[in-house]
Amino acid sequence: MIQAYIFDLDGVIVDTAVYHYRAWKRLANELGFDFTEAQNEALKGISRARSLQLILEWGGVQRTPAEQKELAGRKNEWYVEMISRMTPDEILPGAKELLAQAKDVGIRTALGSASKNAGIILERTGLLPLFDVIVDGNTVSASKPDPEVFLQCAAKLGIAPAHCMIFEDAIAGIAAARAAGMKVIGIGDAAVLTGADAVLPGLQDMTIAKLQTLTANS
Ligand code: BG6
Ligand code: MG
Repeated sequence: MIQAYIFDLDGVIVDTAVYHYRAWKRLANELGFDFTEAQNEALKGISRARSLQLILEWGGVQRTPAEQKELAGRKNEWYVEMISRMTPDEILPGAKELLAQAKDVGIRTALGSASKNAGIILERTGLLPLFDVIVDGNTVSASKPDPEVFLQCAAKLGIAPAHCMIFEDAIAGIAAARAAGMKVIGIGDAAVLTGADAVLPGLQDMTIAKLQTLTANS
């Protein structure tokens, strides 16, 4: 029986995955190269520093640790500029409704995100009160696909991993959920998110009963 829902943030609750993509693309373009949408899938769910390393590898570009810090900071400034203007309208369809349903029936809720900017986004969108626990990039040391972020959520909620269900749009996040021994619903394209118990295009019209059916036999 599922007792907790743990939500990734970027690309599951809000459409910020697109803002991350725009900011990284701008940085890569300034450095004189580009990367594909398929490559961008590999950036989802992983930390800012690791994302930059991958992008520099793709561009065949080398930078010192100090330069990397500056580049990651530049990307983050553009990203923060975009998310600082967010409104509750940018909550993805169905996300708030599912969080509210969980509250109504006593399913505990957590945010399990790699982002250090989760606080700004939750504040801008007014979603903070709907989460019992927040674990984000400021509190974890190992990036997804390491299960640390989700295991911290379960521990803080006081619920066994086997009773947690994760909602994730990233390949790395699905691997993290699996490694944590949790059920996982992929949000996005089933051809990309192999390894999830079930994949949905989004959370629109999702109910707790439907989620139970989807994962009952997995
Ligand atoms: C994840 C995103 O949620 O957070 C990644 O999927 C991002 O794309 C990571 O790199 C870290 O985010 P931030 O906001 O700390 O740069
Ligand atoms: Mg995500």
